Amino acid sequence: GNVTMRITIIGTGYVGLVTGTCLAEYGNDVLCLDVDPRKIEILKSGGIPIYEPGLEEMVKRNVEAGRLRFTTDIEESVAHGTIQFIAVGTPPDEDGSADLKYVTAAARNIGKHMTGYKVIVDKSTVPVGTADKVKAAIAEELAARDNTTSFAVVSNPEFLKEGAAVEDFMRPDRIVIGVEDDTARDLMHSIYAPFVRNHDRILYMDVRSAELTKYAANAMLATRISFMNELANLAEKLGADIEFVRKGIGSDPRIGYHFLYPGVGYGGSCFPKDVQALQRTAAEYGQNLEILNAVESVNYAQKSVLIHKIIQRYGENLKGLHFALWGLSFKPNTDDMREAPSRIVIDGLLARGATVTAYDPVAMHEAQRAIGEKTGLAYADSPKQALESADALVVVTEWKAFRSPDFDEVKTLLKQPVIFDGRNLYEPERMKAEGFEYYPIGRKQP
Ligand code: NAI
Repeated sequence: GNVTMRITIIGTGYVGLVTGTCLAEYGNDVLCLDVDPRKIEILKSGGIPIYEPGLEEMVKRNVEAGRLRFTTDIEESVAHGTIQFIAVGTPPDEDGSADLKYVTAAARNIGKHMTGYKVIVDKSTVPVGTADKVKAAIAEELAARDNTTSFAVVSNPEFLKEGAAVEDFMRPDRIVIGVEDDTARDLMHSIYAPFVRNHDRILYMDVRSAELTKYAANAMLATRISFMNELANLAEKLGADIEFVRKGIGSDPRIGYHFLYPGVGYGGSCFPKDVQALQRTAAEYGQNLEILNAVESVNYAQKSVLIHKIIQRYGENLKGLHFALWGLSFKPNTDDMREAPSRIVIDGLLARGATVTAYDPVAMHEAQRAIGEKTGLAYADSPKQALESADALVVVTEWKAFRSPDFDEVKTLLKQPVIFDGRNLYEPERMKAEGFEYYPIGRKQP
């Protein structure tokens, strides 16, 4: 059978809650800590504070089995786990570097209260060298109370995707473990072995390589997006169709189909901040990451691509125009609003005097929290309601629910049949036949 372990998760957000729940699923005894009492209240009363497919049922099942618990009590959380996963946020600070204050606070809490051997696992995305800082912080706290308990710090970056987080965690492509201590390596192995049929999928390496691997992965993915956006903009000028080009290059296995979709620029809680953090790390070591500089500036410009198309159609002044906006979350199947392109589109429209009615299948509540009240911005209860007496529809997030609307109905509800599509959801030929003025990204106009 599986070896089960006492595990503490520090930081019960998207990553922490998924990690804790999936580890409980294999029989481990998991305690999740958060400093935000609101989140812990929701979890204790049987709900979950985020939207993630499949997560709620899994949390429920493991709570009922007594393997998954939640707390705000730091001392209890330190005492509980032999393994302590740090999964707190690492947001950008003013210059774009990863802000380590939550990671350091978590490490200090462990050092202040630990009494026996512990393995501290950096699960958060943290710059190369952070494991050394975590080690130093814990050692300092131990020294301050004349304690000589031993411990190991491991790097175990997370590669799950929001919207498919449970699936990704339960059936990972690979598990990266940066570890330089044999006891810690054995413990990490027994935790993760149940998740992989083929143990070669657990990649052991030194700590710094593991830390860098996470940034390398996100930087590569961001690069693909900016590259495709740049080509889409060129295709538009050339009278070529980026959809044909995408399929034409994706069929080469060295390139592959994934992550080749042009759109409104990458957003979310990871790519923007991780690209910037890697640039800052490189700068600290005197290296300029030229490719990533370009990736970032292309992305910055691309976030305004829909606004530019709208201005080209209506002119700079959008006063008196009303827009329906479909999709608020930064991508489908999540309610995450961090760095969501929809926010830039909304601000751009409002700033030019337009009004907006927005709809999202899941992120309405989170959007209202994140964006707050804005003059000229309203929220609709359905995609249909958003369309009512709008001058045009703007599609920002590629939710499935938006892929095959009843175009007759859309035409009837809109004042004019105009669609700006930031995700290329529809076929230009079809749209023309349906009588729409259609503005996709990088596609050939029929
Ligand atoms: P999040 O913001 O959803 O969750 C972080 C949680 O940590 C919050 O609930 C916060 O209250 C809590 N927290 C902060 N300080 C604490 C402390 N000292 N003790 C206990 N709890 C504390 O963040 P998310 O999205 O889960 O990200 C966490 C880390 O994982 C980040 O470094 C992120 O870059 C990384 N990551 C995120 C992925 C994602 O898709 N969201 C994917 C892979 C990595």
